[in-house]
Amino acid sequence: VSKYRPFPPVDLPNRQWPSRTLTRAPIWCSVDLRDGNQALAQPMSVEEKLEYFDLLVKIGFKEIEVGFPSASQIEFDFCRRLIEENRIPAGVSIQILCQCREDLITRSLEALRGAKSIIFHLYNSTSPKQREYVFNASRDDIIRIATHGVSFLKEKMQPLVAEGTRVRLEYSPESFTSTELDFALEICERVTDVWQPTPENKIILNLPATVEYGTPNVHADQIEWMCTHLTRRSSTTISLHTHNDRGTGIAATELALLAGADRVEGTLFGVGERTGNLDIVTTALNIYTYGIETGLDFGDLNHIRDVYERCTRMEVPARQPYAGELAFTAFSGSHQDAIKKSWAHQKPGRPWDVLYIPVDPADVGRSYKAIIRINSQSGKGGVAYILENDYGFQLPKLMHKEIGRIVNDLADAKGTELTTEDIHAAFLREYIERR
Ligand code: KIV
Ligand code: ZN
Repeated sequence: VSKYRPFPPVDLPNRQWPSRTLTRAPIWCSVDLRDGNQALAQPMSVEEKLEYFDLLVKIGFKEIEVGFPSASQIEFDFCRRLIEENRIPAGVSIQILCQCREDLITRSLEALRGAKSIIFHLYNSTSPKQREYVFNASRDDIIRIATHGVSFLKEKMQPLVAEGTRVRLEYSPESFTSTELDFALEICERVTDVWQPTPENKIILNLPATVEYGTPNVHADQIEWMCTHLTRRSSTTISLHTHNDRGTGIAATELALLAGADRVEGTLFGVGERTGNLDIVTTALNIYTYGIETGLDFGDLNHIRDVYERCTRMEVPARQPYAGELAFTAFSGSHQDAIKKSWAHQKPGRPWDVLYIPVDPADVGRSYKAIIRINSQSGKGGVAYILENDYGFQLPKLMHKEIGRIVNDLADAKGTELTTEDIHAAFLREYIERR
């Protein structure tokens, strides 16, 4: 039984709202090792990719895009090491990205020999501007590129299939959100015609917001339209792939899940091109706080952050949801007071109700101690809390105001945050040594 309340988190006056609720988690696919890695100033080495892959498996990802093996030798070698060293557990599929070109498809299939379960991810760009400026191609030309890629793959993968590899197809009309919907639908239908999926062996249609130009509701409408117009919806997994150019990648994904999508691609902490991919950590933990089982284990977020920062040479910002150094820290006195009081009401078996802290920090391996921190913005409640919790002093209520003021003055004079030791020393100075 979860300690969190189901979605929505508030009791709405009109029971018809919201019209849809989140009730289950999507299929997750990590694209860290491809979309994330391609955005790093210094891409990961094979050894770093191996460590990162093991971390993704440990978190619980069952679908992991491991690279673009036809694009570089490192990516090719990484694929081979994963397969030859038997590092891919049963139940995990590796996914590779490839353009719809015969030579690249052939090379990718070489990289995948011996794998048990793969997702072959083919893509080509479909928006009118891409068609005109980049490819100088008509709609029909773009459809031909995609369908030819799929039929070539279907033919050339047969030796792999004969050796026992399960092959699934993912097709992405890159720049989907900037593409006319009728054309996006047409190309997806034509690719599906060639692949011939079944409800048991679905095609994955990934609909990327390659660059985030629209608001989340527009993105959700686009996804919903595709979900309702695709003729073989029951043989199709609709996948989301949002980027974060307007800073609303997570909101766009959440709304698109409500609009009917089944699967989500993203990266840890949103590492990815420009302002990043969808941050899967935040998205999954948002869903978790509605009491929904996500299948991903973020119970030791500090360790995940450490491996991430070491391998990518990127930093998780201090205010990052859930994972940031200060994600569970309140400086303001009134917040500290409310946290302390509501915490006292928190009993085992009751829903999580600590004010200002939407998730129990222990659930992501963070400590309670870091929550109350003291600077000149803090009040008496936080100071009393630290003296009580860290040093065992049960201060009478009448003293709270006075010690709060003393500590406040000290913080003002110092101009920085105070440590618990600073507060303890000030308390001893004022109340023990001087009296
Ligand atoms: O952002 C994007 O469109 C992509 C595709 C290759 C799926 O990364
Ligand atoms: Zn992308």
